[in-house]
Amino acid sequence: MPKPERHVFICVNQRPAGHPMGCCSERGAVSVWQKFADLLNQKQAFGKIMVSGVRSCLGPCQFGPVVVVYPDAVWYGKVRPEDVEEIFDSHLVGGKPVERLFVPPEVFG
Ligand code: FES
Repeated sequence: MPKPERHVFICVNQRPAGHPMGCCSERGAVSVWQKFADLLNQKQAFGKIMVSGVRSCLGPCQFGPVVVVYPDAVWYGKVRPEDVEEIFDSHLVGGKPVERLFVPPEVFG
């Protein structure tokens, strides 16, 4: 297996209905994950880009769906399926992160 240049982690954590923190799944994360997976296939980017759905909470739930890209350590929040192609083309392929979708830095303070 080739080592990927970029690895995308999509939080698809699911909490019980009515949980006070909510979760990325109830905010549409599965559709976001599916869109990344579809684009990976369409663009035949295997070997350069890896896409993983993560069933454990990544932390900033209030910004879900949360997507993290390594090795760049870029955290995206409130990602919608219609945002995914821009992230894919601009960041994963082109190396230019999509700043308008960043989780605000103060979240990590
Ligand atoms: S449930 Fe996705 S970041 Fe917490």
